[in-house]
Amino acid sequence: MPPMNAKSADTRKPKNTKATIKRLMSYLKEDKVKVGLAFVCVLVSSMTNLAGSYMLRPIINNLVADVSAAERISTLAINLVKMASIYAAGVLAAFFQARIMIGVSQRALLKLRGDLFEKLQDLPVRFFDTNNTGDIMSRFTNDVDTIGEMLNSTLVQIFQGIVSLIGTLILMFYTNFWLSIVTIVVAPIMAKIGTTIASRSRKRFTRQQAELGKVNAYIEEIVTGQKVVKVFCHEDKVIDEFETLNDSLKNAQIKAQFAGGMMGPSMNAMSQVNYTLTAGVGSILVVLGRLGRMGSFSALDIGGLTVFVNFSRQFSRPINELAQQLTIVMSALAGAERVFDVMDREPESDRGDIVLDHVHGDVVIDDITFGYNPDKTILKNVSIYAHPGQKIALVGSTGAGKTTITNLITRFYDIDKGKITIDGIDIFDINRSSLRENIAVVLQDTHLFTGTVMENIRYGRLDATDAEVRMAAITSNAHSFIQHLPEGYDTVLEGDGSNLSQGQRQLLNIARAALSKAPILILDEATSSVDTRTERDINKGMDSLMEDRTTFVIAHRLSTIRNADAIMVLENGEIIERGSHEELLEKKGRYYELYMGIKELD
Ligand SMILES: Nc1ncnc2c1ncn2[C@@H]1O[C@H](COP(=O)(O)OP(=O)(O)OP(=O)(O)O)[C@@H](O)[C@H]1O
Ligand SMILES: [Mg+2]
Repeated sequence: MPPMNAKSADTRKPKNTKATIKRLMSYLKEDKVKVGLAFVCVLVSSMTNLAGSYMLRPIINNLVADVSAAERISTLAINLVKMASIYAAGVLAAFFQARIMIGVSQRALLKLRGDLFEKLQDLPVRFFDTNNTGDIMSRFTNDVDTIGEMLNSTLVQIFQGIVSLIGTLILMFYTNFWLSIVTIVVAPIMAKIGTTIASRSRKRFTRQQAELGKVNAYIEEIVTGQKVVKVFCHEDKVIDEFETLNDSLKNAQIKAQFAGGMMGPSMNAMSQVNYTLTAGVGSILVVLGRLGRMGSFSALDIGGLTVFVNFSRQFSRPINELAQQLTIVMSALAGAERVFDVMDREPESDRGDIVLDHVHGDVVIDDITFGYNPDKTILKNVSIYAHPGQKIALVGSTGAGKTTITNLITRFYDIDKGKITIDGIDIFDINRSSLRENIAVVLQDTHLFTGTVMENIRYGRLDATDAEVRMAAITSNAHSFIQHLPEGYDTVLEGDGSNLSQGQRQLLNIARAALSKAPILILDEATSSVDTRTERDINKGMDSLMEDRTTFVIAHRLSTIRNADAIMVLENGEIIERGSHEELLEKKGRYYELYMGIKELD
């Protein structure tokens, strides 16, 4: 499984636009009718907008027409009422459209987030080991947000922009042909100048974002590594480095903000030029028309000129907006692609369907070979036999492959060669959940969830009663420290139990495993961070915990495993020695060295 490309967060261009759009639209399928209705509303609101503006023509013409005052007023009143009703209809349509689209898009997002989260639970451990948390998180946050923005408003706005553009164009030509030609020639020139200015300032904004990213990344790194900075007295160096970054951010920001600030006024100036030009040419046409110098084809009345000037102003706006909205659509599609990429990942393999029942705990690891990556073998021809109730210890220097063996028993990773059986059944033929229900694990790097101590221990077996949880805590010797917590078992743990000591966290994890009734137990370094006295207490609790279970225990402190039925000494992924504590000591081999080494340290 290739890691998700960290760079893909920045490349905001979808790769397979068509397929992505199709798939994204499938999230709107259930609300097809509503989406259709929303678009009808958009159509209505854009058209009423145009019609409303056009109403100005009869209103103004009426003001300069050669009629009696009474007639002028009654016509004006009628026209104003018409105009007001048109605008009111438009506002209503816009309101319904927004209301419908928000509901539809939020429902789509709900489903998208739900699907993505469900998928995450199906993904193998390898996925989480090879992708960083921030990158996975951003699929839920940034990517889903941009998709939401697109569904919420952008799609509708684009449609609205196109309708307005076409509508304005038609009304312009309807009002006056020659003047329309002038606008059509001038507007693109203005738009071109506008986009040139915009792209220059965009470059500066991109630089500003990059500089900002650097500063943020630096702060994050130093905040998380603050202890290391302090231990090595790097404060001054860190401040210097920060100042350099901070300074470039300031410079980039000044440039970007200046360009950004200039953009509005210069765009405004452009549109003023266009406005003046249209008004000028238009006025000439009106005068010529009055003098009877134009054919009826090009005649322009004052009302016509007024609405035309308005239209020509509106004309360039949708073009600029469309360009912006297309960028949003592009980045939303790129986001959708990243979301779908996760959804398309290979889930945890599950071809077995045997559900275990009354497991004795006979575990056979038969000649397995495994590597996390195909090009690097970690375990070589490892065989271990554990009879029900036996305690098997795995020892060996760091990186030898001890945790890896347990990863294979729990099927966090799949074996390349060889097989593992439980009570004679190949673990690949066993249903994944059933397998894991029968194995209690104290992970080397474990996790506590936000919640009370009680809830955290209960994670080991969800149907356990409070009394059972307490019992498990007593067995694993966690009870005494829990009692001294401010709220006892109801103390809320936060941020992976950051308000506890390392040893206390481990005790809770052991309590979790103690609660589980699984016949097979895996303890990875369970006692490495507790003091000697606590360690002795845990060991006592452990012994009762391990009594009727097949146990694999990994420990760096060899004193903890002296009473194991068999000890496997691992070196570079191979078992180089095996036997009981006494046998191995007698052998005077690697175990003897390790044991004596530890002895000396004690
Ligand atoms: N997720 C992983 N992806 C790739 N390689 C890994 C992964 N986890 C471990 N390794 C590599 O596999 C080898 C064995 O690691 P393992 O965690 O099994 O060691 P260990 O014996 O448990 O060591 P320790 O005593 O430090 O816990 C190491 O060389 C390690 O770099
Ligand atoms: Mg390990």
